[in-house]
Amino acid sequence: MSVVGTGQFFGSPEEERDKLMRSLLEQKNKQSSPEGIPVVTLNDGNTIPQLGFGVFKVDPDEAERVVTQALEAGYRHIDTAAIYGNEEGVGRAIAKSGIPREDLFITTKVWNDRHLDVEAAFEESLQKLGLEYVDLYLVHWPAPKNGTYVQAWKQMEKLGDRAKSIGVCNFLPEHLDTLLAEATTVPAINQIELHPALQQRDAVEASKAAGIAIESWGPLGQGRYDLGAEKAIADAAAKYGKTPAQVVIRWHLQNGFIVFPKTVTRSRMVENLNVFDFLLSDEEMAAITALERGDRGGSHPNDLN
Ligand SMILES: NC(=O)c1ccc[n+]([C@@H]2O[C@H](COP(=O)([O-])OP(=O)(O)OC[C@H]3O[C@@H](n4cnc5c(N)ncnc54)[C@H](OP(=O)(O)O)[C@@H]3O)[C@@H](O)[C@H]2O)c1
Repeated sequence: MSVVGTGQFFGSPEEERDKLMRSLLEQKNKQSSPEGIPVVTLNDGNTIPQLGFGVFKVDPDEAERVVTQALEAGYRHIDTAAIYGNEEGVGRAIAKSGIPREDLFITTKVWNDRHLDVEAAFEESLQKLGLEYVDLYLVHWPAPKNGTYVQAWKQMEKLGDRAKSIGVCNFLPEHLDTLLAEATTVPAINQIELHPALQQRDAVEASKAAGIAIESWGPLGQGRYDLGAEKAIADAAAKYGKTPAQVVIRWHLQNGFIVFPKTVTRSRMVENLNVFDFLLSDEEMAAITALERGDRGGSHPNDLN
């Protein structure tokens, strides 16, 4: 899918389809196995499981239980952030799991009030997580009114080997342009709000052009709208015997996006992983893509400072 240094993170539709068909065949007999989740190669050469597990709004008291169950279900990629307040619980679940560190992919993020203090914020996150390193460290928001994200990035670039990959979240094309004009390291990731009703095509295109892989946050629309009420999603769900959430997760995967739906519900953890035994057709993909309506659930990136 991705080739380092070329700026190509998404193959042609035919290449994406072939790759997914191969992964389907490989996974036929090992549903939900960690090894069965496809990986994306980032512009720094590191790989990331394309399907993971998010923990935004997971109560700190619940985080250990939730992440333990997610790891048991087969997730190996966990997305947290300092601002979520649950890094300690995530860390306890990791420590108790007994899963070799190298088999896990852990992401956390620096909050807006630490843009000028990234190294110390990073140390605090590592300590709370109980980890020697994270696989991905992200600038959580550009917070452009503060005028500090380039300075934050300069510090991100100096974190060295304890942040295996570095990236950004919620960067619009204008923020990427400003950053790239000053950066030594191109971000590996841009994590943006992305679901059928808000697809941020400008940010996706600008990221792709710079060789930056896209992570979709709020991939299920954060539960704000009924996915099954959308005919395109309901029709595919009925055809394949899948749930609306599973259809939408597949739409992300087939678009080449990295995705980590959040749930505190054990059965949904399993459900959201069980997406490798069907393939949406080009027509079904297009019908879901046509659901774009600019429905932003989170803050506009220029407004959260
Ligand atoms: N960088 C950023 O600024 C940013 C912002 C927001 C989120 N994120 C990251 O992205 C992750 C995912 O986004 P999100 O948590 O905001 O939203 P989401 O994953 O789109 O939606 C989570 C909601 O969907 C429900 N849900 C999960 N699976 C379901 C299923 N199979 N059927 C029906 N409902 C289902 C969950 O309910 P229950 O939990 O009650 O089961 C929860 O209410 C976050 O956890 C976080 O790691 C990043």
